[in-house]
Amino acid sequence: MNPASLIPLVESIPIPWGWFDVLLVLTFTVHILFMNALLGSAAIGLVRSLRGNHELAHDVGQKSPPLLALTINMGVAPLLFLQVLYGHFDYVSTVLMGGWWLAVIGALLFSYYGFYTYKFKYDALGNGGRNALFLLSLVGIVYTAFMLTNNMTLMLLPETWTEYFTRDGGFLNLSDPTIAPRFLHFMIGSLAVGGLFIALLGRMKDRRDYVDTGMTWFVRATLVNLAAGIWFLIALPRPVLLAFMGDSLPATLTLLAGLLAAGMSLWAGFGRKPVQTTVWAVITVLFMSLTRNWVRVLYLTPWFSMEDTPVTNQYSSFYLFLGFLVVGLALVGYMLKLYFRSREGRA
Ligand code: HEM
Repeated sequence: MNPASLIPLVESIPIPWGWFDVLLVLTFTVHILFMNALLGSAAIGLVRSLRGNHELAHDVGQKSPPLLALTINMGVAPLLFLQVLYGHFDYVSTVLMGGWWLAVIGALLFSYYGFYTYKFKYDALGNGGRNALFLLSLVGIVYTAFMLTNNMTLMLLPETWTEYFTRDGGFLNLSDPTIAPRFLHFMIGSLAVGGLFIALLGRMKDRRDYVDTGMTWFVRATLVNLAAGIWFLIALPRPVLLAFMGDSLPATLTLLAGLLAAGMSLWAGFGRKPVQTTVWAVITVLFMSLTRNWVRVLYLTPWFSMEDTPVTNQYSSFYLFLGFLVVGLALVGYMLKLYFRSREGRA
């Protein structure tokens, strides 16, 4: 029996899959950049605070609630596109994780309240209380990230799903050799982008010390992340690894483009240029997201090929979506303009 026939498609799709795939990668890139800025800046602030310097934690703590809101909102978009393309894998892995997955809601609510309390009750909390609250809020975020890595890898391994029948409840994908390097790669990347966020904050506030601290974290974390990336690569199953070593030209070129952009970001980082570094870092994350997309396609090759998904060619809802997207982005742009003008005291 063809194993793929055991995982039937959820539905046909209205327009060719390429549209959804592009939107999935683009929105995921934005989601992960916000997540990196949140997690990384909070972690760096906390490290500083534990060493007795509370100012940076206070300043990044002002940004944590909006960064969390943006991370969550920008997570909804890729979730929708993921369901359209890979619903028959992703729904299954989500259900198999059971309570571990459902606890994400509690963890996020806890972190949200924690970050808000930190921001608005800063003066009322003592140093110890502040650090404890910031740390616990950060733990909720790290837990969520770990659950997402479990989900995104479990969906790629249908051969492990039968484990469900030998267990009492939901389970994680802990025996997968890629899980540790993959998660670490995301966490170290967060420290790098978080550092960059602090450097940009320093640039806006005219604080040279924040620029220096942020750029130092960016460069060091990115160098360490090259090692984590290599570990991740060699932990991949052999056919997937070989695809990135030349067996698949588009996959290999995507990874090389990501590495090249990472090199450029390091070069700009060593030169202590936050804006230039940010441009290269965003390009790096975009190419790494594309590489991650290749990893998924290659893993699922025995089970599923996107080309087999029936297309109904009903474009009306897509045009409606594009219309709302353009109008929505214009409105957000207008709101941001009003917001920044009001901050300058001109509104
Ligand atoms: C602060 C909370 C969050 C953190 C720290 C976080 C972190 C992450 C990480 C690390 C990944 C990549 C996992 C991997 O590939 O190994 C990821 C992927 C993803 N996240 Fe989030 N996430 C958060 C909240 C959310 C929320 C609330 C949603 C949905 C409403 C969401 C939707 C997604 C989706 C759909 C993906 C996968 C996209 C794809 O496979 O292309 N995330 N997230």
